[in-house]
Amino acid sequence: MTQSQATDPATGQPAEEPAAALRPHAEDAFAAELTALAAADDRPRPERWRLSPWAVATYLLGGELEDGTVITPKYVGPRRIVEVAVTTLATDRALLLLGVPGTAKTWVSEHLAAAVSGDSTLLVQGTAGTAEEAMRYGWNYAQLLAHGPSRDALVPSPVMRAMERGMTARVEELTRIPADVQDTLITVLSEKTLPIPELAGEVQAVRGFNVIATANDRDRGVNELSSALRRRFNTVVLPLPETPEAEVEIVARRVDQLGTSLDLPSPAEGFDEIRRVVTVFRELRDGVTADGRTKVKSPSGTLSTAEAISVVTGGLALAAHFGDGVLRAGDVAAGILGAVVRDPAADRVVWQEYLEAVVREREGWKDFYRACREVTG
Ligand SMILES: Nc1ncnc2c1ncn2[C@@H]1O[C@H](COP(=O)(O)OP(=O)(O)OP(=O)(O)O)[C@@H](O)[C@H]1O
Ligand SMILES: [Mg+2]
Repeated sequence: MTQSQATDPATGQPAEEPAAALRPHAEDAFAAELTALAAADDRPRPERWRLSPWAVATYLLGGELEDGTVITPKYVGPRRIVEVAVTTLATDRALLLLGVPGTAKTWVSEHLAAAVSGDSTLLVQGTAGTAEEAMRYGWNYAQLLAHGPSRDALVPSPVMRAMERGMTARVEELTRIPADVQDTLITVLSEKTLPIPELAGEVQAVRGFNVIATANDRDRGVNELSSALRRRFNTVVLPLPETPEAEVEIVARRVDQLGTSLDLPSPAEGFDEIRRVVTVFRELRDGVTADGRTKVKSPSGTLSTAEAISVVTGGLALAAHFGDGVLRAGDVAAGILGAVVRDPAADRVVWQEYLEAVVREREGWKDFYRACREVTG
């Protein structure tokens, strides 16, 4: 084998390792866990699945294998939800993950595809501008003009590639896609074929093919799914974390994982701060304080778990670069303000009322109140 002698243009030194991806795909980030699961897994696997449904659920929910390998939980939530989602993928129905923003729909979809097919990248990102080619196939125009329509000139979509290889395709934000483009999925999901009239042919899905779509509750109505399409999906609703403890655990775990890839300190010592961010978010979201005694107004933002994660990650970066590395109230205050005050006029009033009526009076929250006052102005 010959060693590559490439040099790094920035330093002039021999480049030794390929640069690490900023955000590796799930199948790469958790390759060791997936390999250990596959080795330990002696249950029947549906055709072309890398793992049995049981092992896929274990990968998502976490657990310990007989050989002592620890599988970290990816999704924190009701086990049944994961079991239904995984089982759906083994049937001829597609899976629709529905929920309010930040309930881990995209996250679960990526990990399901990684565990089932070993590849989470066969992805269509749905937007109002998503065209039919993104769902079916496009053409390489140079080839098309030179040689006419042929299989070589055809550029398959991620869905078509998943059909050919018997893998999991992902469609993100399905309800944002224009209705006529959405409907191209009907034939794919019911007939399991994709017609290619230009070549007088079709692509037939190989066993193992399925689709995971995600859709945001709040977008519903923009392009409501046609009932014909909806009937091809099993819908699984991902809930908001039920208890504050569950939400704190999710935030702490994800911040820890994200922080590792950004070289940030562990959030362990900042646990109190995480708890406070989650408390504030939940109270504002629910419109009532945790003890159920005081009603508060809700701001216009969603204040999802995902936003709590980014507030804490941002705070940790502040603590690392400008503080002593320990997360404190002053590090999260500005992030909270940014997440809560989306509408500068109305939300600011809501926030100020909450600060004075709830935060100020709360036992042991003086430093937090002061930090929030300081950034609120
Ligand atoms: N129950 C949960 N278990 C584990 N992680 C969670 C949970 N809820 C939220 N998260 C985390 O929140 C982050 C955001 O999730 P994700 O982007 O998948 O949300 P989404 O539902 O797709 O939101 P959107 O509707 O905005 O697209 C992820 O990092 C995910 O790990
Ligand atoms: Mg999403």
